[in-house]
This record gives sequence, C-alpha cells and structure tokens, in this order.
Amino acid sequence: MEKKITVIKGDGIGPEIVTEAQKVLDKVAEKFGHKFVYTDILMGGCSIDKYGVPLTDEAVEIAKNSDAVLLGSIGGNTSTSPWYKLAPNLRPEAGLLKIRKELGLFANLRPANLYPELREACPLKDDIIGDGFDMMIMRELTGGLYFGARKTENVDGVETAVDTLTYNENEIRRIAIRGFDIAMKRRKKVTSVDKANVLDSSRLWRKVVNEVAKDYPEVELEHMLVDNCAMQLVRDPKQFDVILTENMFGDILSDEAAMISGSLGMLASASLNDTKFGMYEPSHGSAPDIAGQDKANPIATILSASMLLRFSFDMDKEADAIDNAVKKVLEAGYRTGDIMSEDMKLVGCKEMGSLVADMI
Ligand code: NAD
Ligand code: IPM
Ligand code: MN
Repeated sequence: MEKKITVIKGDGIGPEIVTEAQKVLDKVAEKFGHKFVYTDILMGGCSIDKYGVPLTDEAVEIAKNSDAVLLGSIGGNTSTSPWYKLAPNLRPEAGLLKIRKELGLFANLRPANLYPELREACPLKDDIIGDGFDMMIMRELTGGLYFGARKTENVDGVETAVDTLTYNENEIRRIAIRGFDIAMKRRKKVTSVDKANVLDSSRLWRKVVNEVAKDYPEVELEHMLVDNCAMQLVRDPKQFDVILTENMFGDILSDEAAMISGSLGMLASASLNDTKFGMYEPSHGSAPDIAGQDKANPIATILSASMLLRFSFDMDKEADAIDNAVKKVLEAGYRTGDIMSEDMKLVGCKEMGSLVADMI
C-alpha cells in the first residue's frame, strides 16, 4: 500500500526523535511491502526563523492533502528563547494550535501503561503498582481555554490578563462519544474528569457526559473532580480505564500519567478528527535541555508512529510489530537516560531507534 505522510520534525529534540520513528516506519514498509512517501513541512520555531510565522497556510495544505501527519515537537526554552519575545500568535505553540484547529483534531488519545521492564523507572511503591496499570487519557483538543478569547489590558492603571474557557454541548458530546466508544473496546469504564464544583463549563460537561452515557449501558461511568484525579493517579492508577476530560486538564494529567509510566519519553499520542486522518506525536515537548545530544528517548514517537499505522492506515499487524519490537528492546535491557536503572544498558536516541527497527 502507498501512503502519504506529512512529517513535522519541529524544534529541539524533534528532528532526532522523528528520524528514529521514520527509521522504524521504513523497516515496516520494507517488511510488509508498503511505500510511505514523506513530505516535510516546517512548524514551530524553525518556521518562525524561515518564514516569520510558526505555520504557513501552504504547510497546512500539504498536511491536509496527505493521509496522516507525524510530528516530533515544537518550541524552545520559554524563558530564554527569542521566540518568546514575539506576539503570542507568532510563537511556536501557536503553530501547533493552528494545525490542531485547521485539521479538526478534537480527540487526543494518550495511552499510559507501565511496561513491567520499566518498574524501576516508575516512582510509585510496589503495593501501589501491583501488576501495573493501563489507561487511556481522552483529551478534548480543540476547545476550552486554549481557544477562548484572551487579552492583556490596562484596567484602571492595573495590568490585567484574561483567558476564557468556553465549551458548547456539541464539542462535549463528540469527545464523550469517542471516549465511550473506546471504553467499549477496553475495560468498559469511563472516569469523566471536571471541576463541576466551580466551573459552569464543567457543569455542562458533566450534564452532556451523563446524556451520552445513556447510550452505553454496559459502560460504568464515574465523575471525578480534577484535583482528586491528580491525587488518585499516584494513589491508585489501576482504578482508571478511560479518563475523559477537557483540554487543559488533559494536558496536565497526561504529563502526570507519563511520569508514572516511567518517563515523558514513553507517552505516545494520536490526535483524531471524524475521519481516518490523524496527527501523531509524543506527548512531551522539545526538551531544549537535552536537544542535539543524542540523549532523547524516541520511544514515545515510535509508538506514535505505531498508532498512526493502526488508526489512520488500518495496519494492525504492522502496528503490533512496532509495539512488540519496543517490548523486546526493553526486555533486552536497553534504556535511554530518562528510563535508565541499575544493570541496564544505556543507549542514545539513534541506537534506541536502530534497536527497535532491527527487531521488526
Ligand atoms: P518537555 O516535555 O520538553 O521537557 C520536560 C522534561 O522532560 C525535560 O527535562 C526534558 O529533558 C524531559 N524530556 C521530554 N521528552 C523527553 C524524551 N523524549 N526523552 C528524554 N527526556 C525527555 O517540557 P518543557 O521543558 O516544559 O517544554 C519545552 C518546550 O516544548 C516548550 O517550548 C513547550 O511549549 C514545548 N512543548 C511542545 C510540545 C509539542 O510539540 N507537542 C509538547 C509539550 C511542550
Ligand atoms: C502538549 C503540549 C501543548 C499543549 C503545548 C505545546 C501547546 O503541552 O501537546 O501536551 O498544551 O497542548
Ligand atoms: Mn503538554
């Protein structure tokens, strides 16, 4: 099968980790008789440096005309990089928000589970971990605080900043339906996370999720306040199957879930719309502190490439081959620095990518 993949390497460790994911995809293509045709586009700081904007309309068109997008990460050090002296709509992150919105990628799936081999990298105690956990964070991705009106102004001599958090019932319904559909294929439990004790948007969220739940009588639904959820993730992560939540809460909770999986460098993600199209990216950022040093863990990006094959191309066997290869490499004791523990073999980003590709 021939497929067109738009590739966004981005900034920081982005080019390093995407190169390794492409190495793995190329091995899949060779083994299974496919052809993946890549087209690179710029997004983030590298696009600002070349075009003065974090994402051009031409780049969006290229992405729209492909079968899927593979993204590394964008952005720089937000305290020191000159990109953060620009107007907010010209900064690297604005490119990422623009592509999510333009492609209608409202459903962000972030699977978090603990590989037994990474037990030592997980900061939780044995009695909490038991025989591991396996959850899917379903994060709404094109609404809420990220896309509401914002301004900074002087009010009676006092500098004042405003961000607005808006959701309508349709935006909530479509992500809730996705969450319940996914729960039906898993352990049939949805934990909807909100702040309904304070926010109107959360009260609407809860109401609509309750309505959607009526169509899924087999799925157990519970509501949890976000502060409690942050605590429960480290107290008893096994209790979660699907966590269904809005944009900002999902951003924060998924970094927490990544860390109990061993490292941010392990957490893959898929951003989907109503079609087979999707954008696939690790949940972590551009890690400017380790960029260009061959230290980054490419596994989150490699597993995102696996999600790309599974969700956008219906290539289940090929995706399984990638997932199994990652497991085998971990079983064989190879680790990047972020998941390193005693007696394991420390490897760099490139070697980790080659090891996974060789196992396919
Ligand atoms: P970050 O995720 O880049 O890094 C946080 C910490 O985790 C750092 O110590 C980093 O070294 C480590 N880390 C992250 N990914 C790793 C990997 N694959 N292997 C090993 N270690 C890894 O978060 P940050 O430092 O808060 O943000 C840096 C920049 O990334 C910011 O500009 C931010 O806006 C951007 N960002 C981009 C995305 C994205 O492109 N999707 C996501 C998150 C943050
Ligand atoms: C993520 C990132 C982005 C987000 C930033 C870079 C805009 O943190 O993908 O998790 O908050 O969505
Ligand atoms: Mn994030």
